[in-house]
Amino acid sequence: MPVRKVSRANTDDKSERRLIRRRKFAFASIFAFLTANFFMTLRFFFPRTLFEPKTSFKVGYPTDFGFGVDTRFQQKYRIWVVRNAEGIFVISAICTHLGCTPDWVESEQKFKCPCHGSGYDSEGRNFEGPAPRPMDRAHVELAPDGQILVDVSRIYKCPPGAPCEFREDGSYLPV
Ligand code: FES
Repeated sequence: MPVRKVSRANTDDKSERRLIRRRKFAFASIFAFLTANFFMTLRFFFPRTLFEPKTSFKVGYPTDFGFGVDTRFQQKYRIWVVRNAEGIFVISAICTHLGCTPDWVESEQKFKCPCHGSGYDSEGRNFEGPAPRPMDRAHVELAPDGQILVDVSRIYKCPPGAPCEFREDGSYLPV
């Protein structure tokens, strides 16, 4: 019967379309899988790398520093450059209690730690709060071009009851 033929043709047509859809879906899935794998393989050749900040750097000439605390390098290198009657030294801006960064309070001539209230004088010596010792100092020397070269990987400490390293060669510049 002609009616039946049309109906059968319709059914064939539908299943053909369904088959095509399934094929497209399968191809799309395979393509997505291969693309993801390609990018994962590519990522392998570009590993995440941590770029540590430099530990040794120049901060300028001794004549660039007047008496007192210079905070210009706090943000970039987490240090303060201090000049007193004896010379120039560099304080590591790390609180010796739990490692916060103290603030230099010019009006009170002291460093004050915002975390638990430790206070340090202008040379970084602790006098209030829970800090157990003065802030550490970084190695300083004059580079061949006459600039001050700081190396924060070489640290001088002054713990209570132990020899203080603040007079050692390299802990300050006698300029
Ligand atoms: S970290 Fe500075 S007082 Fe605690």
